Amino acid sequence: MKISVSYLSSKYEKRKTLELIEATTADYIHVDLMDGGFVPKKNFTIDEVLELFNDCEKPLDIHLMVFDPILYIDELAKLNPEYITFHVEATKDVVKTIEKIKEHGIKVGLSIKPNTDLYELMPYLTLIDLVLIMSVEPGEGGQEFLLESPHRLQELLKVREENHLSFQIEMDGGINDETILLVPELDIVVSGSFICRSDHYQEQIYKLLGK
Ligand code: DX5
Ligand code: ZN
Repeated sequence: MKISVSYLSSKYEKRKTLELIEATTADYIHVDLMDGGFVPKKNFTIDEVLELFNDCEKPLDIHLMVFDPILYIDELAKLNPEYITFHVEATKDVVKTIEKIKEHGIKVGLSIKPNTDLYELMPYLTLIDLVLIMSVEPGEGGQEFLLESPHRLQELLKVREENHLSFQIEMDGGINDETILLVPELDIVVSGSFICRSDHYQEQIYKLLGK
């Protein structure tokens, strides 16, 4: 299982947090971007994101919590991220947005909120590289893991297997060393406050991995 670390709720300021994440064995930096429309809070402008994450060494796993995600792609591509993930609820142009991300040679993720029927993802599953299942309402770090999430994972695993598909499955929200035990089949797990509100990032990552 790969670990993607979200910096949203941290003890330290952003740059320090990023330095601490870089010093661990984490596989990705999870870049949460919020527009104050799709979710109530806004965090960065595009320019701030480009500046802050430009020097990161670890691969970036960008999570767009914004309406009209297609408008962000050309700029974010400058960071050469591994994945750009957007929400199936955030646009009518899902296919166009997928194509736009692919034009840049970047892997595409599609995310889904806890109350959206998984059926909404079905038309796109052959086109994408990753599904990000939200295990909290998007918009804030430090929330409690929603207990329907393992069931949603099982459903998606079944769809993947029955259709011989190969997208990765990632989960985001409320993941700690206890809730991770409920979702051992994940390919990638996002964890924020469990790691970044501690003093020992690496120890927390080892705990997630059961080491
Ligand atoms: C929530 C964000 C998450 C969040 C994860 O809307 O997308 O990435 O920061 O943080 P924790 O692990 O604290 O839920
Ligand atoms: Zn996220």
